[in-house]
Amino acid sequence: MKKELINNHIQLDDSGRLVHLLGLENLPKSHLLDILEKADGLIDANGHLKKSKALDDMSVANLFFEPSTRTRNTFEIAAMRSSANVINVDLANSALKKNEALMDTMQSLKAMQIDMFVIRHKQSGLPHHVAQHLKGVSILNAGDGTNAHPTQALLDMLSIRQHKPNFEALSVAIVGDIIHSRVAHSDIQALKTLGTTDIRLIAPDGLQYGAKNESTIKRFSDIDAGLKDCDVIIVLRLQKERMIEADIPNEQDYFDNYGLTKERLALAKPDAIVMHPGPINRGVEIDSAVADCKQSIILQQVTNGIAIRMAVMQILAQNS
Ligand code: NCD
Repeated sequence: MKKELINNHIQLDDSGRLVHLLGLENLPKSHLLDILEKADGLIDANGHLKKSKALDDMSVANLFFEPSTRTRNTFEIAAMRSSANVINVDLANSALKKNEALMDTMQSLKAMQIDMFVIRHKQSGLPHHVAQHLKGVSILNAGDGTNAHPTQALLDMLSIRQHKPNFEALSVAIVGDIIHSRVAHSDIQALKTLGTTDIRLIAPDGLQYGAKNESTIKRFSDIDAGLKDCDVIIVLRLQKERMIEADIPNEQDYFDNYGLTKERLALAKPDAIVMHPGPINRGVEIDSAVADCKQSIILQQVTNGIAIRMAVMQILAQNS
C-alpha cells in the first residue's frame, strides 16, 4: 500500500478518543503526552513495573507475521501485568496455511471474544486495513512494513525523557538504515510532535530518508559531521530482509563508515545517550564497547517497552 494511502484517522473516534494505535502521524501531542504520563505512573520509585487490573476480563491476541523478541514478549508481559488473557496466535500452524483469507481468520478470532489485536506484518498499512474492517475491537500496530512502529517510538520518547526532558532543546541523531526503518519513521514523527527542531539523519545515500525536505530535519552522509555535539544517538540495524540483494552493503565497509565506535561517540556531547531498538548486530552498526558502555540505554528501552505497552492498552481499554 502506498504511504499516502495509509491513513491513521480512524485511530481516533468522533470524540477524539484513542480507539486504535496505528501510527504517530496525526496523533495529537496531548494524546502522546498522556501515554508517556500513564507509562511513568506505572513505574514505581525503584524502577519496578506496577501491576494493574485495568484489562481484567479482556483478551488480547498477538499476531506476529514477522520475527520479534522484544516487541512480542513485552506486549505479552504488558497485557498479563494489566490482568488480560493473552493468546499468541500460532500463525505458522493456523488456517492461513490452508489459504484462509486473513480477514476470515481475524473474524474468527473476534468471535472468540478477543478485545485487542496486536499486529506485526510485512505489509505497510495492514493494521489500518484490519482496523477499518473489523469493528468493535482495538488494533495495535506492532510494526507494519517500513511504515510505522508507534509503540517503539513511544518507548523511545519515554526513555529519552527519563534522561533529557526538554525535547525542544535536543539534537537527535538517527544513524543507519533509515529508509527501511519503521522505527525511524515513527521516531521522527514523535520528535516533531514534541518540538525537537534538530533531527539529524545520518546514512549512506541508498539508505537515507525518502521524505521531502523539512527545516527541522538535516541529512548527513558523513557520520562525524552528523554526530557533532548531539544529545541522543539512535542506531539502526541494516534491515537486509527489506533490501534487494545487490544493495546490501558489505558489513565491514558499513562498520568502517557508519558503525558507532567509542571514537565517534566522543564527537557527541559528553552526556549523550545511545539507543537502539534491537535486535543489535555488534560489529556491524554498533561496536560492542559502545553497546555495553555507560551511555547506552538499550536495555532500559526494553523495560520501558512494557510500561508503554501497558499504558497504551489501558487507555484503549478505557475508551472501548
Ligand atoms: C525493530 C522492528 O522490528 O522494526 N525492532 C523492534 O521492534 N524492536 C527494528 C529492527 O528490526 O531492526
